[in-house]
Amino acid sequence: MSGGLGRPRVHHRLTDSTNERAKALAEAGAPHGTLVTADEQTAGRGRQGRSWVAPAGRAVLMSVLLRDLDEGDAALPLTAAVAVCEACEAVADIRCAIKWPNDVWVEGRKLAGILVEGRPQDGWAVLGIGLNVGTTADELPDELRGTATSLAIATGGEAPSTADVVDVVVGQLARRLADEPAAVLGSWRRRDALRGRTVRWTGGEGAAAGITGDGELLVETADGVVELSAGEVHLL
Ligand code: BTN
Repeated sequence: MSGGLGRPRVHHRLTDSTNERAKALAEAGAPHGTLVTADEQTAGRGRQGRSWVAPAGRAVLMSVLLRDLDEGDAALPLTAAVAVCEACEAVADIRCAIKWPNDVWVEGRKLAGILVEGRPQDGWAVLGIGLNVGTTADELPDELRGTATSLAIATGGEAPSTADVVDVVVGQLARRLADEPAAVLGSWRRRDALRGRTVRWTGGEGAAAGITGDGELLVETADGVVELSAGEVHLL
């Protein structure tokens, strides 16, 4: 489950959600690697029911269809985060970290988010990536101004084109999906933004202490170490 990412490619000037379009293509039989991109979305989706908003033409909005998944692909969201970090560092002079499970951060602000959706029981998933490229501080919604960033904001310079960033992300994804899981996990752990920090969720709090091989967050609490699953736990 690695090669041939990015073809065929469908680009929308405007669509509801590239994840939604990629899921429809998956159900219609599109092949592994199909890439859907957009300049703008009217109903971009984020994790945990949130929306994803980006000004037209300023962000990478992309979804890749992955087929023939197996249990070895359980860490797909983590692999994607590593690939997005590496792609960003290849196109801009920045250093990225990952906030569990897969938010890409630069200097404590969110640069990119990842939403994996699909039908694992049917062996496919859609990997959606939203990455702020040319967005200026003025263009960020008020409620995100203190917590979000873009390549342009983080570097203080001219951002690369979204098309170039898509190409680099796809290439890095293909490399990391073909990589040994242990190597990917090692890279994720070196970028762990939460390690040692206090985390809270409905039901507890403690000090983040890394991740398991399956990508669960380890937290040291007063009652011992607990493992949190990204599908079930929402950090506060
Ligand atoms: C998150 O951090 O909450 C995940 C955000 C994922 C947003 C991307 S934008 C492209 C793709 N299409 C969507 O509707 N969502 C993902």
